[in-house]
Amino acid sequence: MFDIENVRADFPILGREIYGRRLIYLDNAATTQKPLRVIAKIREVYELYNSNIHRSVSRLAAMCTDEYENARKIVCEFINAKSTHEIVFTSGTTAAINLLAFAFGEKFVNRGDEIVVCESEHHSNIVPWKLMCERKNAVLKVLPFDDSGDLKTELLDTLLTERTRLLCVAQATNVLGTVNPLDEIVRKAHEKGVYVLVDGAQGIQHVKTDVNACDFDFYVFSGHKIYAPTGTGVLYGKEHLLEQLPPWQGGGDMVKNVSFAETSYSDLPFKFEAGTSNYAGAIGLGEALSYLIYIGMDKIHSYEKDLTSYALEKISSIPGITICGTSASKIGIASFFADGIHHADMGEILDKMSIAVRTGRMCAEPTVHHFGLTGLVRASWTFYNTKQEIDSFCEGIEKAKKILTN
Ligand code: ALA
Repeated sequence: MFDIENVRADFPILGREIYGRRLIYLDNAATTQKPLRVIAKIREVYELYNSNIHRSVSRLAAMCTDEYENARKIVCEFINAKSTHEIVFTSGTTAAINLLAFAFGEKFVNRGDEIVVCESEHHSNIVPWKLMCERKNAVLKVLPFDDSGDLKTELLDTLLTERTRLLCVAQATNVLGTVNPLDEIVRKAHEKGVYVLVDGAQGIQHVKTDVNACDFDFYVFSGHKIYAPTGTGVLYGKEHLLEQLPPWQGGGDMVKNVSFAETSYSDLPFKFEAGTSNYAGAIGLGEALSYLIYIGMDKIHSYEKDLTSYALEKISSIPGITICGTSASKIGIASFFADGIHHADMGEILDKMSIAVRTGRMCAEPTVHHFGLTGLVRASWTFYNTKQEIDSFCEGIEKAKKILTN
């Protein structure tokens, strides 16, 4: 196991005070904090070799391009893709899914075809598919979850038909925290010839991910949720599938030759990286993944597992608090409501105690509506959080309850 104090010292923001008290940051599902190594790497790019990648001819540009392509190699190894051709840098999960929704729709979806999404998805894995279905006159179908937050995977036997082209599912859900049974889901989909997109935005930072062993067709994630800079992300796709997809955005770097009569496109992955990319951010993403490799994903997983059991038991034993999402397989998330208290009020009082959480619909309205609610309070922790912080958080909830019900 790693030394938690050393790990916390890697994240300077964790040492700061808000309202005169030490920050307790429990909003990691919204965004994670950045280790010094990542902050230093971004500074290094701008101080030492900032220059436009893949274009300029200077020594600086070669250095910057090498760093960018090295980041792609690190991502490739981190998720065990077969080739760097399968790794497309994007500005985040949302951009990656929108790219795929356009390109996959153009290539594989015709009138009357079906796309399946899960009820517990984030809006970014619902709305792009809804838009694409409207554009292509296709049908959007929904795989529901039960009251504990587990997908009703037995329904896939009838939900998937010969018209289904793609099934879209989160690795772990952002409100309920359920780690979805992807082995079973991918197997059932592939048996019917259906491709699978896995949204790893809430999964990759918690669970060791092997896109190759798990046979995902497409996989996406955001940098900012895995300790990397904002505005970074990845679309992974099996090479033979990405080869078949048309480009999404046109511009520099994604073309071989352009004339007014004809345009030919770059090879993978550049075909999908139009314009000057966020190369400094991507280099920072590579650094964040190197940091996680240095700490050890297995160690992170077992530390978080222990913290999650502790936290869920403690929070759920507070009278008047109900956690939504009680699956046996969860990442470090507790989304809950307090009897007679509005979620926004609870969030505001916790903030005054220097405890950062998220409240509201969490960009997943269908999930919140499933429980007949208008919003929840969500605490989400990671490997730099501690049991002491969970204790303070629970005391904070008790205090907030007293203040708000008196
Ligand atoms: N998608 C992020 C969340 O769930 C922002 O909070």
